[in-house]
Amino acid sequence: MSFKIMAAESELPEGTVQNILEQESLKWVFVGGKGGVGKTTCSSILSILFSKVRSSVLIISTDPAHNLSDAFQQRFTKTPTLVNGFSNLYAMEVDPTVENEEVGGAEGMDSLVSELANAIPGIDEAMSFAEMLKLVQTMDYSVIVFDTAPTGHTLRLLQFPSTLEKGLAKIMSLKSKFGGMISQMTRLFGVDDEFGEDAILGKLEGMKDVIEQVNRQFKDPDLTTFVCVCIPEFLSLYETERLVQELAKFEIDTHNIIINQVLYDEEDVESKLLKSRMRMQQKYLDQFYMLYDDFHITKLPLLPQEVTGVDALELFSSQFVKPYQPAKSRDSVEDLERRISTLRLQLKDAEAELEKLRKGKQKI
Ligand SMILES: Nc1ncnc2c1ncn2[C@@H]1O[C@H](COP(=O)(O)OP(=O)(O)OP(=O)(O)O)[C@@H](O)[C@H]1O
Ligand SMILES: [Mg+2]
Repeated sequence: MSFKIMAAESELPEGTVQNILEQESLKWVFVGGKGGVGKTTCSSILSILFSKVRSSVLIISTDPAHNLSDAFQQRFTKTPTLVNGFSNLYAMEVDPTVENEEVGGAEGMDSLVSELANAIPGIDEAMSFAEMLKLVQTMDYSVIVFDTAPTGHTLRLLQFPSTLEKGLAKIMSLKSKFGGMISQMTRLFGVDDEFGEDAILGKLEGMKDVIEQVNRQFKDPDLTTFVCVCIPEFLSLYETERLVQELAKFEIDTHNIIINQVLYDEEDVESKLLKSRMRMQQKYLDQFYMLYDDFHITKLPLLPQEVTGVDALELFSSQFVKPYQPAKSRDSVEDLERRISTLRLQLKDAEAELEKLRKGKQKI
């Protein structure tokens, strides 16, 4: 077993986010994971790294409890604002749960559409997300990084294009059934053509186009990828697996995992607590490598302090592009046992190989 892990580890994809930075076609980069694991820190750093290789970068927080402002130590709003110290990095905080006032436009149309829309749960949120994406798309950023809310919410957000598509199809079919009646009513109440059936239909069709386009883009691995952030603990491993499976279901590409808050074995650690936490982390790190041997896994150390402000983010960013160098393994009983059993397996293989060679020679 351990032999298999060792063999696989030498063939693992490089343990950095370099692959993402080098993928020039990428347009949308989602960063997600369980609460408090370091999503905001990682997405902020990714956006800083992107700013060095792309013409313009936008980082958007879709977490209702925004913390980009904390990470960058600068206040952001729902319109893109230049991050202090940069010429091509912008940040904005949007709240997908708040209805966007710009959706709709004319009042008569608004109320009818929203009446219809109310029949489909989640469509309001989906509409404002779609409007936001439409807006961002016209702004022509080279790459857009999303700092998302904890897992459940993110998955719901990614489902929006399909929710919206289904919802719109439903509204359309209702309209084709009752369209005649609606136009009679609008005429009866003297509503202008502008707010009449055709206008509503046109608006819905327009929305459908945006959704279809976004849906196509999110499912295109050349344009979109999802970076899973986690920590080496059971719950986080479990949640990452759930996330990876859900993403596969939505056909959203993912091939990078960032394992944050890793205790590095750089100095002799005296603390029993730390020693046992390191062993626990090692157990889950092994499992991550075994489960995701085709992913780029980036390990980040747990720092003695928080990562706030551009300087701290910049400093930490070097860990994202430099592969983790494991410290020389300390001679804990488990480590030695693992090394011995690996050597035993290798020895057995070598002996079998030798035996085969000997037999072959005898035949000649
Ligand atoms: N490797 C690390 N070492 C030390 N502190 C860290 C590390 N990574 C993140 N932090 C700190 O931990 C806190 C939580 O990180 P962050 O805000 O990035 O997590 P999050 O996943 O976005 O949380 P939430 O789910 O609440 O949005 C922050 O104060 C951050 O500075
Ligand atoms: Mg956050």
